[in-house]
Amino acid sequence: MRICIIGVGHVGLVSAACFAELGHDVVGVDDDPAKIAALSAGEVPFYEPGLQDIVSAGLEAGRLSFTGSHAEAIPGVDAVFICVGTPRREDGAPNLAYVQRAAASVAQLADRPVAVIEKSTVPVRTGERIKQALALQAQAQGTGMIHRVVSNPEFLREGNAVEDTLRPDRVVVGADDEHAHALLRDIYEPLLAVHDCPYVATDVRTAELIKHSSNAFLATKISFINAVARICELAGADVQTVADAMGHDARIGRAFLNAGLGYGGSCFPKDVEAFIHIAADLGYDFGLLRETERINREAKSWPIAELRRLMWNVTDKEVAVLGLAFKPGTDDIRDAPAIDVIEDLRAEGATVRLHDPVALHQISDRWPDVVRCASAEEALEGAHAVVVATEWDEYRAIRPERLAELLTYPVVIDARAVWDPVALADAGLSAATVGQPRTEVSVL
Ligand code: UDX
Repeated sequence: MRICIIGVGHVGLVSAACFAELGHDVVGVDDDPAKIAALSAGEVPFYEPGLQDIVSAGLEAGRLSFTGSHAEAIPGVDAVFICVGTPRREDGAPNLAYVQRAAASVAQLADRPVAVIEKSTVPVRTGERIKQALALQAQAQGTGMIHRVVSNPEFLREGNAVEDTLRPDRVVVGADDEHAHALLRDIYEPLLAVHDCPYVATDVRTAELIKHSSNAFLATKISFINAVARICELAGADVQTVADAMGHDARIGRAFLNAGLGYGGSCFPKDVEAFIHIAADLGYDFGLLRETERINREAKSWPIAELRRLMWNVTDKEVAVLGLAFKPGTDDIRDAPAIDVIEDLRAEGATVRLHDPVALHQISDRWPDVVRCASAEEALEGAHAVVVATEWDEYRAIRPERLAELLTYPVVIDARAVWDPVALADAGLSAATVGQPRTEVSVL
C-alpha cells in the first residue's frame, strides 16, 4: 500500500515509521523544512523508545521517505493520513484550520480517488467537514473526483508510542462505505496477522467519538481517585490500598487509579476541554467533565496548600521541586502539573530549586529566578522543603534519612507517593503524602 502522512509530529512520525515497518511504502510530508532535513538524514527530533530504530530501518529499506512538498508526496498514493496538530483555541475549542488545509491539499494534488484518514484527534462530525472541503476543492478544479473519508484514531502514549501502535489494545476504523473499510483492513492486515486484537469497524462519527470518550474517561478516572485521595487524607485512610482493592474488580481495573498531581501532557487537558465544547456545540452540557477539570486544578494546587499547612509561610523559603516532565520517561512539559506548582511557589515569594533528569532544557529562558539543579541532591541541599512533582525512579531511590540530612527544615510534600510515609515519619520528617492520613503539624 502507498501511504502519505501529512504532519510528522509525534503521532505522524510514529505512524509513518510503524506503517513502513509493516511493509507499506510511506512518505511523510511536513511544512517544517528543518524537521524534514533532520528526518531525511535519519535523525528523530524527539525521544521515543524504539522509534529511531524503525525510522532508520524504513529509510534504509527505501520504504520510508520525507519531503516538504505536498506535490511530491500526494500523487500516486492510495491513502493519506492527516496527522497535523489541532491546537487549543482561546476558548478551549480545537483549531481545525490545519486539518482543513491538509484536506484541501489532498483535493488539489491527488491524481486518483484516495482515502483521507483522520488520525489527529478531531471533534465528532469533522469527517463531514473534511468531505465537504474535499468536494468543494474538487468542484473548484473541475475534477469531480470523490475521495473517501475515514476516521482511524490513535491511542498511543508518549514513551510507549511504538509499542502502542504496533501492538495496540484495539484498532478503530470509522468509514461510511465498504471500499474504504476494505482499504483500511488491507493497511492493518500485516499488523493483525502477528498481533491479535479487536478490530472495531464502525461509521465515521462513532469512531470520532471513541477517541474523545476514551481520553475523557481516563482523565475522569484520574480525577475520581484524586478526589478519593482528598477524602483519605481527611478520614485517615490509605488511597493506595483503596485503589489496589478497587482495581481487583475486573470491571474497574487498577490502571489510571494513581492519585497524584493530576493529569497533564499534550492530550488529556486539551481533549477534555475540547469534548466539553463539542458536547456544548451539540446542545449537551457535559457537567461531569467540568468537574473532572475542577478536581484536576485542585490536585495541582494541593502542594502549595500542604506547604502552607506544614510551614505556615512559604514566602522567602527555598523549596526543592523534584520533576518537571508531565510524567516519567519523557522530556515533554506540555501542561505539566509541575509548572502550576512552580508558578504557585513563585507567586508566594519562595525560591524554587528545580531538578528533572531530562526536561530542564525545556525552560531555558523561562523563570530566570528558578535555580536549575544538575542533581536531586543539589536541589535538596539546604532547601526548607521538597515537593515531588514527577515520579522518576531516581527519586524513589533517595532514602528518607538522606532527605533529613539534606533539608534545612524537614518538610516533605510527596505529591506522587514515591516514598513510604512510615519511613518518612521514622526519619523525623514532617511529611504530606498524597492520599495518606494527614499528620499533625510538628513543632520544628
Ligand atoms: C494519553 C493517553 O494515554 C493516550 O491513549 C492518548 O493517545 C494520548 O494521551 P499520554 O499523554 O502520553 O497519553 O500520557 P498518559 O500516560 O496517559 O498520562 C497522562 C497524564 O495522566 C500524566 O500527567 C500522568 O501523570 C497522569 N496520570 C496517569 C495520573 O495522574 N494517574 C494515573 O493513574 C495515570
